[in-house]
Amino acid sequence: MVKVVTHFPENFLWGGATAANQLEGAFDEGGKGLSVFDVIPFIPKEERKEGIGLSVPSQKDVAEALAGKIGDNFPKRRGIDFYHHYKEDIALFAEMGFKTFRLSISWPRIFPNGDEQEPNEAGLAFYDHVFDECLKYGIEPLVTLSHYEMPLHLATEYGGWANRKVIAFFTKYCETVFTRYKEKVHYWLTFNEINVMAMSPFIGGGILKGYYKNDKQAAFQGLHHQFVASAQATKLCHELIPDAVIGCMLARTEGYAETCNPDDVQAALTADQFNFFFTDVQVRGYYPNYMDRYFAENDIQIEMLPGDEEIIQLHTVDFLSFSYYMTTVKSGKEKESDLGNFASGRINPYLETSDWGWQIDPKGLRITLNKFYDRYQIPLFIVENGLGAYDKVEQDGTIHDNYRIDYLRQHIVQMKEAIKDGVELMGYTPWGCIDLISAGTNEMSKRYGFIYVDQDDYGKGTLNRSKKDSFEWYRKVIASNGEDLT
Ligand code: BG6
Repeated sequence: MVKVVTHFPENFLWGGATAANQLEGAFDEGGKGLSVFDVIPFIPKEERKEGIGLSVPSQKDVAEALAGKIGDNFPKRRGIDFYHHYKEDIALFAEMGFKTFRLSISWPRIFPNGDEQEPNEAGLAFYDHVFDECLKYGIEPLVTLSHYEMPLHLATEYGGWANRKVIAFFTKYCETVFTRYKEKVHYWLTFNEINVMAMSPFIGGGILKGYYKNDKQAAFQGLHHQFVASAQATKLCHELIPDAVIGCMLARTEGYAETCNPDDVQAALTADQFNFFFTDVQVRGYYPNYMDRYFAENDIQIEMLPGDEEIIQLHTVDFLSFSYYMTTVKSGKEKESDLGNFASGRINPYLETSDWGWQIDPKGLRITLNKFYDRYQIPLFIVENGLGAYDKVEQDGTIHDNYRIDYLRQHIVQMKEAIKDGVELMGYTPWGCIDLISAGTNEMSKRYGFIYVDQDDYGKGTLNRSKKDSFEWYRKVIASNGEDLT
């Protein structure tokens, strides 16, 4: 009789996810340099034309931000001040029973400009304290090496990732942190949502508007450099920390065909291939054929040096991690240019939508997990998922976020279905386990957390932490290893 796995594995990594640029604050403390997100200002919803996360500033915009000409509201600079609250925050994660805590190391905290010979000891010491605090509670740190935090200097002076020199700077940074934290960190991720490069070359790769003649060419050249850097990081990680595992990270957006019209089905397939391209390279170890046509039609020529293809092939990742927030609907009537934007597509009438227009699709998570596993047969890790919502604090200080509990419950149910389908799933770290600054809109009011942080979009508030209803709910989920979802 064939046995079907029906439960989450015993060693399943329940936890929560964050990133330094949205969390830490203290942008000018402990010798930290500026990162690319430190120069992106808050823009109120009424005036916002596009997501902040997708905007690409020019050299002039950066200079104006640095000169204080566009105000003083740069939310990523203050984050939620985890830098000074990490003990309290990690204690709360421990209370929920976290097995893992996903965070990123801020590259400019370690190499303030990115091109120094020696690392910044104060920055290294900070993460020693953070990891020690996690380990004190038996929480495994899950560390992203690069989560939209490139040193700004590498963007303005070198042209970001499109410059091949950046590979060496990044490799040195990786070697530094692998060596320093080899006893403390056993789960690593290379580039957060590596496909963001195709949507915002600045956030993904520090490539400023107008820096290169052809932005698209620069983005894909930068991406190639990230593939090489990621393979080098993987190699180094395996050599320096033999008992560690390292994964890649994709913003996965399943695209459904709008109808059974073959044109729609082809549009969905093309969008899917474009999304899988990034993990195809990092998991399979080579550029897929289907991208040749895209490169030819978009006049993109990727410059590769001898040895690039070999390192990409030899050092593929141990597991695949991804963010899952939504699915989209693709139609044959769409322009090819819509491909680059993972939120593009049509409205799915069968789904509900969040206050930010993101379509909520728990069943799509099962489909996503199955598609990934069918394609690669390596362990999967959902390192981001969650509902960005407005929360209301009641008179007595309580926060009843049933909508968030419902959202997470439905997604966990589908994770279990995927496990029954035979998918190997390592863990689940919902995004923004503590409220933090939004990547896409710079808002504080777009909240994901189990823990509420008293701060508004303008940085006003006590920064006090308090538990939402979802806090106790998630504690029970973890304690029962995903059995008690009530
Ligand atoms: C992912 C990013 O794209 O989505 C996170 O890796 C981000 O950094 C998350 O915060 C949610 O997006 P947003 O725009 O709601 O913060």
